[in-house]
Amino acid sequence: MIHVPVQLTSPKIVSKRNRRLQYRYYAGFSPEFVAEILLGVQHGNNRAAILDPWVGGGTTLEAASSLGLRSAGVDANPVMCVVAKSRLFDPDLVDTAVFAQRICNGMSRRTLPLAKCDPLRMWFGDKTSSHVRQLQREICAASKTGADISLESINGLTALACIGLTALFNCCRNLLCDLYSSNPTWFKVAPPARRRGISKHLLLSMFERELDRLAGMPAAGHRAEARVLCSDSRSLPFADASFDAIVSSPPYCTRIDYAIKTTVELACLGSLVFSHFRSIRTKLIGTSAITGERIASKTSWGPTCIEFLDRVRSHYSKASKSYYLRTHLQYFSSLFCSLAEASRVLRVGGSAVLVVQDSYYKEIHNDLARIVTEMCAAVGLILDRADAFEARQTISHINTAGRAYRGKARLTESVLFFSKA
Ligand SMILES: C[S@@+](CC[C@H](N)C(=O)[O-])C[C@H]1O[C@@H](n2cnc3c(N)ncnc32)[C@H](O)[C@@H]1O
Repeated sequence: MIHVPVQLTSPKIVSKRNRRLQYRYYAGFSPEFVAEILLGVQHGNNRAAILDPWVGGGTTLEAASSLGLRSAGVDANPVMCVVAKSRLFDPDLVDTAVFAQRICNGMSRRTLPLAKCDPLRMWFGDKTSSHVRQLQREICAASKTGADISLESINGLTALACIGLTALFNCCRNLLCDLYSSNPTWFKVAPPARRRGISKHLLLSMFERELDRLAGMPAAGHRAEARVLCSDSRSLPFADASFDAIVSSPPYCTRIDYAIKTTVELACLGSLVFSHFRSIRTKLIGTSAITGERIASKTSWGPTCIEFLDRVRSHYSKASKSYYLRTHLQYFSSLFCSLAEASRVLRVGGSAVLVVQDSYYKEIHNDLARIVTEMCAAVGLILDRADAFEARQTISHINTAGRAYRGKARLTESVLFFSKA
């Protein structure tokens, strides 16, 4: 059992000190919360190896590394792997001013022809697409990584390349901010007349400012190895019993399509990555895309999950027994597989701390904390403790249409502590 205070810090309330974000990310949990959990892990075993199988923005890895705990993080979205690795950048080892200068020199020396199929053309004019693409390539060149990023090369990107790419993501997001809608499953392609244009000079100065901001963020002080792997939580690339603790937050069942949310960033990584958009999207748990796989519910998912699926199936609304039933079956099937994998790579006696949020499908309550607890029991993870917090930022703030069904029901963020039997 992990030694944590009786009164836990909320997983979502971020202190003022930590509010300057590396990258705007809806689903992250707070550094204070993770540090509290990891201190508890360290108290029992100061050589513990930590895993986050849904690493997202990399909060767990940054906290583990600063406490001197070895860690690994997995995410199936290459964008989140880049963002997570950028958190591991150590400003004491590399001078980002020299890095920025190398990039500027490269940008002024060359102008690259832009490929016809470059995905950046969906939102930027031709010249600007070409500047953005060149900037991506110069970031890679200046950090001594191959200029063309592929899915295979993501794991080899250095923390320096990743902080440069994260700065590029943030610049592009700022330039395209009015194209982001409140619907997380949808992102607009700009019509030709509205494609953005910006000079090379302005883009570079935006980039330099952003890089400076990221590099100047309070460094956690990295004292232990932390690996980030672009992989799937349903088949983790680790041997059995490799970890002492898992600290993570699985994708919620709230119709957040993480791939759609990061369309622009995937395009920034280049055509070799963007050409896999569909397969990346369908791999992500909680996707609103139909994967095509025929899935039947299993009793091992537990009674709460089975009852919830029955209620979705028999809901009177039109698409409930077709599209929505299928996306929910996909979600629970992937979640169950991932929890079984998490249990496999955790040593006997090891701990798993999972943060989950409940949600509603129409008026039907999806009690994810209870479902995860029942699924975990089926794969050998036994619940020791559960803490509940009122969820402050929920999808219902984003998707107001759903309120017609469920009124003003409050949602809960649960912190679940398991140990491996
Ligand atoms: C709730 S977020 C994790 C947030 C993280 N705790 C943080 O503080 O930033 C869930 C993450 O799971 C990732 N994900 C979804 N499906 C996955 C899969 N099959 N394998 C690995 N990662 C996946 C998403 O890309 C997303 O980054």
